[in-house]
Amino acid sequence: MYKNIIILGAQWGDEGKGKIVDLLTQKAKYVVRYQGGHNAGHTLVVEGKKIILHIIPSGILHKNVIGLLGNGVVISPFGLIDEIKKLEQQGIFVKDKILISEHCFLILPYHVRMDIARERNSGMSSIGTTKRGIGPTYEDKIARRGVRIGDLRNKDNFSVNLKKIIKYYNYQLVNFYKEKPVNYNNILKDVMDVSDILIDMTADIPNILYSAIECNQLIVFEGAQGTLLDIDHGTYPYVTSSNSTSGGASTGSGVGPLNFDYILGVVKAYATRVGFGPFPTEVFNELDNYFCNYGSEFGSTTGRRRRTGWLDMVALKRSIRINSLSSLALTKLDVLDRLKEIKICIAYKNLKNNSITVDTPFSIEGWNEIEPIYETLSGWNESTLGITSLSKLPLLARNYIKRIEEITKLPIDFISTGPDRKDIIKLNNLFNI
Ligand code: IMP
Repeated sequence: MYKNIIILGAQWGDEGKGKIVDLLTQKAKYVVRYQGGHNAGHTLVVEGKKIILHIIPSGILHKNVIGLLGNGVVISPFGLIDEIKKLEQQGIFVKDKILISEHCFLILPYHVRMDIARERNSGMSSIGTTKRGIGPTYEDKIARRGVRIGDLRNKDNFSVNLKKIIKYYNYQLVNFYKEKPVNYNNILKDVMDVSDILIDMTADIPNILYSAIECNQLIVFEGAQGTLLDIDHGTYPYVTSSNSTSGGASTGSGVGPLNFDYILGVVKAYATRVGFGPFPTEVFNELDNYFCNYGSEFGSTTGRRRRTGWLDMVALKRSIRINSLSSLALTKLDVLDRLKEIKICIAYKNLKNNSITVDTPFSIEGWNEIEPIYETLSGWNESTLGITSLSKLPLLARNYIKRIEEITKLPIDFISTGPDRKDIIKLNNLFNI
């Protein structure tokens, strides 16, 4: 039985991780977020009710599961409190089931203003961020000028530091971006108003996890965004600002690498990406409308329409290696139900020298020089919605799944066949669920 499982997105995010995390946390003690912030959006459908989570880990919906936010997560105090309140309005009470690392850096209003100002002023080179202030917060962390939740314990020091940081931000906002400055007093007051709530939620996350590991308790580590958005391994600079790959689970939670024993990569049966940046298998027009409509491909954080495309095995294989994936969970299979043919990208053609490559390019220029080479499979043209056993799937759907396993050389543990919690095919019992 596996005890410490990482579940992460193997593409550009929005793979449907929330549902898989929810499934595997039924018997877990803890579900841990280790990177990213409220830029994430995890949609779950439980008994017909749609629940969207951003910073709160997906597995927390189970009664006995406690959600931990590790040091690698960046937290907007107002975003967090707002999300807790919205869940309460839906009858879901999580406030006493969340513990936060004191080392989490705070996303404050000047980060959001800077994120927006940069996007607005970058023209063609804007990233298409979620405008949640994620990038500037991680910048502050690396530059060693950020403020952490634990810093709220000493209110005097906090106010002095905040003043310095805001002076620095306002200088850039006003002089470089020609924007209005942010107001120190307002920000300080707003943060002080919620500081006790935040401090009450803090705990020594590495110690809690260490004890759980010693007691053999099940822990699920929930990745946000996806591998190709990783700051180091993704399609830089069109990436988020954290390590969304499996290494991030260790640095972002304080659990050593040898303590993880299973890494499950969540893969959508096709591909999507929000924001700008390379996407070799992107489709347009009718096909894009098809994926968008049947797959409801609109961001759960920003509402933006997602770009859509075919499954890209070159990128996926890279993702498998970088993350040391143990297996895959394939999601949204049912979205392909009405297609006559389905394509899988198996290699890239380099348009500059006509060579064929099975590696992802290093630079943006490199990504612009390649085009996908496809293998085409027949579609199954019948509904798979809600199917819960492999044998009930149409033969051509099983062929598609088999082909993915052949190319990736990895087993598929789960196949999601619809948005509801119950729409799932479980292919092994490794997790005793
Ligand atoms: P940021 O994380 O807001 O800085 O945005 C950087 C890039 O990551 C943009 O292309 C966003 O659209 C993308 N991104 C951030 N969070 C998510 C997510 O949860 N799903 C998919 N894309 C995301």
